[in-house]
Amino acid sequence: LNKISIAIDGPAGAGKSTVAKIVAEKMSYIYVDTGAMYRALTYKALAENVNIQNDQELADLLSHTNIQLSPSEKRQLVIVDGIDVTDVIREDKVTNTVSTVAAHRLVREKMVKQQKALGQAGGVVMDGRDIGTEVLPNAELKVFLVASVEVRAERRHLENIQKGYSSDLEKLKKEISLRDQQDSEREFSPLRKADDAIEIDTSSLSITEVADRIYQLANERM
Ligand code: C5P
Repeated sequence: LNKISIAIDGPAGAGKSTVAKIVAEKMSYIYVDTGAMYRALTYKALAENVNIQNDQELADLLSHTNIQLSPSEKRQLVIVDGIDVTDVIREDKVTNTVSTVAAHRLVREKMVKQQKALGQAGGVVMDGRDIGTEVLPNAELKVFLVASVEVRAERRHLENIQKGYSSDLEKLKKEISLRDQQDSEREFSPLRKADDAIEIDTSSLSITEVADRIYQLANERM
């Protein structure tokens, strides 16, 4: 069978990474979480006091940063310069800063180049904001996942509680709306549905239903 490329885009909390992982596993494809790459850079910038408003400084930092996404048994690990940052890159500080870092032109150019290389051989499920439009414009399958802010905030809220973190639903709604706005309104490769992407509203679907739908669409394209 042909190894295709699958691009999954959409706003924060639409369920992209959860379903992308399931689909990748079902198909024995590589899963690439591009958001984790922007988060990893943001984490390092914060740790090293790099000015997150300065595109050039961030791009230089990225040139000297080794970001690895390594599959492990349970979940994908994110390794920055040999250190496991899988959990810390999900903390509030990074989450609320990452959209500023990801808005810069040079940062995006470098990231997109790395991501294209990861997807080059096909057999990949990649999730992000600009995968269908910039990173894998020729992907055989492009999916754009959406859900209301309320639903997305509630999912994140439940996730936090399950993990034993404290969580404030109203605050989550505000943060998600702000990140949507920043990601959609930025100048360089904003969050946008590719013309040939299939939109799936996940508001009233389960994770399994969304994953099955994408798996079915993928099989139609092989
Ligand atoms: O997917 P996740 O929520 O982890 O992404 C974190 C942030 O990284 C997004 O809010 C966005 O600002 C940025 N991002 C991006 N382009 C991508 C993936 C993520 O700009 N392809």
